[in-house]
Amino acid sequence: MTFQKRTYLQAGCLAFLIAGFAGFQLLSQPDAVLADSSGDSKAELKPIESDPHEFMEYVFQPNYKKLKAALASEPTDGKGWYDVKSGALILSEGGNLLLMRTPDEKADEWNSHAVHVRDLAAEVYHAAHDKNYDKAVSSYKEMLKSCNDCHNKVGHGEPNLKP
Ligand code: HEC
Repeated sequence: MTFQKRTYLQAGCLAFLIAGFAGFQLLSQPDAVLADSSGDSKAELKPIESDPHEFMEYVFQPNYKKLKAALASEPTDGKGWYDVKSGALILSEGGNLLLMRTPDEKADEWNSHAVHVRDLAAEVYHAAHDKNYDKAVSSYKEMLKSCNDCHNKVGHGEPNLKP
């Protein structure tokens, strides 16, 4: 066998092994997923605080305050942008958490405000990655309109948050 042929053979064996291993991984994955969801199912989304007032007070309020302070002027260092990213990401993911708490009444309105808040807070988060202060502030102001919209349409009009 020439050196070249032997190299081809070795490469072929290696490719076969890799393909086999990948196939095994693919086949074994669905089982793992099924095993997780077929047990007595601790692996499912479950609100810890179902009262919307308390949820807002402890999850949304502190992150809104953090974001407001961090965007009061253009951040000059990594710490400033860190606070923008952190506050915005928690509020954005908080929008997803609101979708686990849809009330029976005005469900469509609730969900649509939750999605707006999620997506606008995500814009703030991405703008902070780009250190784009103007974009972060404009998306933040839009986001607050959606916060207030929900308070007006679904709640009792309180609180009316200012940028
Ligand atoms: C899907 C609807 C919805 C969205 C979106 C929403 N909220 Fe709320 N929020 C509520 C409800 C309901 C209450 C409770 C009102 C009440 O107690 O009557 C509330 C109350 C609050 C309170 C008052 C908490 C307290 O202790 O009095 C704050 C602060 C607050 N929200 C902040 C925010 C911020 C900031 C956003 C946007 C980033 C936001 N909310 C988006 C539904 C929403």
